[in-house]
Amino acid sequence: MTNHKIALIPGDGIGVDVTDAAMEIATAAARRFGFTLATETFPWSCDHYLATGRMMPEDGIETLRGFDAIYLGAVGWPATVPDSVSLHGLLLPIRKAFAQYANIRPHRLLKGVEGPLKSEGFDILCIRENTEGEYSGAGGRVHQGTPGEVAIQTSVFTRMGVERILRFGFEQARARRGHLTSVTKSNAQQYSMVFWDEVTREVAADYPDVTVEPMHIDAMAARMVMAPESLDVIVASNLFGDILTDLGAAIQGGLGFAASANINPDRSAPSMFEPVHGSAPDIAGKDIANPIAAIWSAAMMLDHLGEAEAAAAILAAIEAATAQGIGTRPGSHSTSAITQTVKAALEA
Ligand code: NAD
Ligand code: IPM
Ligand code: MN
Repeated sequence: MTNHKIALIPGDGIGVDVTDAAMEIATAAARRFGFTLATETFPWSCDHYLATGRMMPEDGIETLRGFDAIYLGAVGWPATVPDSVSLHGLLLPIRKAFAQYANIRPHRLLKGVEGPLKSEGFDILCIRENTEGEYSGAGGRVHQGTPGEVAIQTSVFTRMGVERILRFGFEQARARRGHLTSVTKSNAQQYSMVFWDEVTREVAADYPDVTVEPMHIDAMAARMVMAPESLDVIVASNLFGDILTDLGAAIQGGLGFAASANINPDRSAPSMFEPVHGSAPDIAGKDIANPIAAIWSAAMMLDHLGEAEAAAAILAAIEAATAQGIGTRPGSHSTSAITQTVKAALEA
């Protein structure tokens, strides 16, 4: 029987609730499809930081390297630990250290979910560059606290980084409806984004079967609301992709529905799976977080681990629940009620 070693990092706030839910469903799927999940839970979180002075131990990355995949709930508790400390101490270094450069975020309406738009037939796959760009971490501050203070946050775009994410996007487009929209801001950013457009044209030459369209981020934000059905695969830089995928979550009914996979396509290190949403301090500890995004992310993890049938069955079980109106509106059902409905559908 295949065994998959999974590192669990529930993290903060609702990250803990939705990780429990996602693992309950993943474990049920494993039982049904004849494989096992050996999970080890790491308490790395803001509480851990307050207790130890670190978000994860010094050898945290090396510890995670031994797993087949990482599942993360959410990180951040700004009331006690600044986000600039918590995210740079845990989530962002994992994405970078394991070259999880392709962040895949699907946006479509699940059966029974009413989105805020008139348009309902959209099916978008956002591919976000996940290791460089605006998140390079280069920069600094000088003359702090004086009128002459300057803060610089530099974006770094490398040929290797831009080319590989575009290639990944073109491969996805080829396997879907053959359309790719590359998002930039090359009218204002004359170095990085003009470079990105050039690399897009170069890579496109290898994919004559894919239609490619460059689009500015501002126009793209409007288009995702006005005509989301006109989109197939979107490829965007780290920050643009971050923003567009919360927008994508909104048009699919809310952050409780948006799943995400941080993929290392070369499989030289583990990939990491997590919902798009954060720790949601405003609803934490109330059993009202929607676990569907997290459960869907667990399905993406099983798919990545070669358990495609189990992944498809989880997706079908989620939609069996939402089709009955379970978990489709904020606050309509508890986290546990949604999880049990999905589990029953999976085991039926
Ligand atoms: P958030 O995604 O946590 O919450 C935004 C809004 O969406 C809130 O009103 C919240 O209640 C709602 N929401 C989020 N997930 C939901 C769910 N599953 N069900 C129902 N409602 C849900 O974003 P935020 O408030 O900007 O961030 C809170 C903390 O999480 C911060 O520390 C932030 O840095 C962190 N964060 C972490 C991640 C991550 O770990 N991947 C992602 C985003 C934000
Ligand atoms: C996400 C989150 C993170 C990001 C934050 C918490 C650093 O918003 O995964 O979308 O910007 O990548
Ligand atoms: Mn985000």
